[in-house]
Amino acid sequence: MPVSRPVLCGSIAISPGGLGGMMQNAAYRELNLAYTYVSFGVEDAPGAVQAVRALGIRGLSVSMPFKVEVMQYLDQVDETAARIGAINTIVNDGGFLTGYNTDWIGAQNALREKVELHGKRAVVVGAGGAARAVVFALLHGGCSVSVINKTDYRGRALAEDFEVEFLGGLEQLDGLDGYDILINTTSVGFKAPQETLIPVRVLQEGKVVMDIVAAPPETRLYQEASARGCLAIPGTRMLLHQAFRQFELYTGLEAPRAVMEAALYQAIGVST
Ligand code: ATR
Repeated sequence: MPVSRPVLCGSIAISPGGLGGMMQNAAYRELNLAYTYVSFGVEDAPGAVQAVRALGIRGLSVSMPFKVEVMQYLDQVDETAARIGAINTIVNDGGFLTGYNTDWIGAQNALREKVELHGKRAVVVGAGGAARAVVFALLHGGCSVSVINKTDYRGRALAEDFEVEFLGGLEQLDGLDGYDILINTTSVGFKAPQETLIPVRVLQEGKVVMDIVAAPPETRLYQEASARGCLAIPGTRMLLHQAFRQFELYTGLEAPRAVMEAALYQAIGVST
């Protein structure tokens, strides 16, 4: 049976960011584990999954744009990941590969740091893979959910899949009111942190506003929401919480949270 020494975990993405490695390697050091983590920039997703099998790689984080594509190459996809329709984590148990989604856990725990979810009205902007994980997290937490998306058919498809309301296109943001939680899941702000889709007037005091962009933590949406008195949550919190769960899946141990948090904030140049 293929094995690696030390135990190898890693990530695949078209352009690797390296933040996962910072967090996971800090955790391995803290707990003196004979593990190491490497971030791979790859183009060949089936080849990468085959490498997991051939090299005995223990765990693999899967990022853009492979989260849906790799599902077909696995032996099993856990029920929640199948419901969401995307995986971001592969665990190799003696050659048997299972796909998980830890993004939804990251989203839910990031939100729960600021707000009790049950009974809240949430609006999700976007309808991609990240939106699906966020919508699942909100429904699981007991929120009602409405979706806004630029492209009509994608917004409708997501809303239908999860039996939530589709409000319409981005013009629906103009007069948006009556929500408790607003989440940007689009890639706007990821590509250009100084851009935002959310008009400032919609950001009212006391509302919870999350941008899933992990770095930089202070996107324009985050800054405007904070300035308007919202409870603003950066995507950094979501990234961190999903990484705790990945650590636990790879090692079977409880994540050393403070160490991983410090490693992440150091990596993105934010002092804690
Ligand atoms: P991911 O899986 O990471 O969520 P994705 O599937 O490419 O990525 O989805 C990206 C989301 O960002 C989509 O909701 C997309 O809107 P469309 O469905 O209309 O394409 C949204 N998005 C990307 N660029 C956008 C832009 N400039 N304006 C508005 N929405 C945008």
